[in-house]
Amino acid sequence: MPKLNKDSVFGTFVIIIAFCLVCSVLVSSAVVMLDPFKAAAITTDRQLSILKVAGVTPGKNVSDTYNKYITARLIDMKTGMLTDDASDVAGAYNFASLAKQPDTSIAIPADKDYAGIRTMAQKMPVFYVKDDAGNTTRIILPFYGQALWSTAYGYLALDPDLNHIVAITFYSHGETPGLGGEIDNPRWQALWVGKRLFNDNGEYRFLIAKTPDKVGEGKDYEVDSLSGATLTARGVDNAVRFWMDYAYKAFFDNNRTTTEEIN
Ligand SMILES: Cc1cc2nc3c(=O)[nH]c(=O)nc-3n(C[C@H](O)[C@H](O)[C@H](O)COP(=O)(O)O)c2cc1C
Repeated sequence: MPKLNKDSVFGTFVIIIAFCLVCSVLVSSAVVMLDPFKAAAITTDRQLSILKVAGVTPGKNVSDTYNKYITARLIDMKTGMLTDDASDVAGAYNFASLAKQPDTSIAIPADKDYAGIRTMAQKMPVFYVKDDAGNTTRIILPFYGQALWSTAYGYLALDPDLNHIVAITFYSHGETPGLGGEIDNPRWQALWVGKRLFNDNGEYRFLIAKTPDKVGEGKDYEVDSLSGATLTARGVDNAVRFWMDYAYKAFFDNNRTTTEEIN
């Protein structure tokens, strides 16, 4: 076998290519090896967000607290009924990815796609918050939609009447810090607390408005927009509208009329 002349042009290329191959194998192996840790970190992060809107302070072990107070179920989005799937769907259930696959998604009619997401998963999780006596104290629904620069993902915690907002949080978005990023500001999120989604006739009425009604009938439903970030606030308003007024409609209708026991 002829000896490789490292100083020749050919030799230089062979060494560069060999070096690149070794590096790419190292990087790919690291990605594969770290994958389970990444998945676990994402699950913990989701669980922390859920506990936040659940109003539960996490203990040392986040999943223990989560498992104690949260019961996760899946909603069949066509019927609005809870499915029999395993209850440990929790934070690991990737509905955004399922929404992209033809066999696990539902196309959204263009005139209803206020959130700008085109498709949604056939099954979405719902999180029931239980107190120590086992009573449901809050019901948490995920929602997401196109903001200004990014898709914003959040959780809305509702009173068991499925109308009054108890808490809101966002667990992922790419809006500008100080502008659209103010959707994370606890002072803004506090404005949502106690607002209603629907009026007494069951019509969707919640609104994020530049000049919300603070004294009249609208005060129960309207939240201030974000100054300097009207476009992000509008995206959030549209996302909440899509999920609460359209996507979860069958679930809301079923659960307003039944008192299904959640185990
Ligand atoms: C660099 C840059 C980043 C911006 N980021 C956001 C943003 O994240 N969300 C947003 O709604 N508006 C953002 N804006 C402002 C929007 O272009 C727009 O002016 C604003 O949403 C209008 O809100 P206002 O009517 O309350 O002023 C950004 C503007 C600039 C120049």
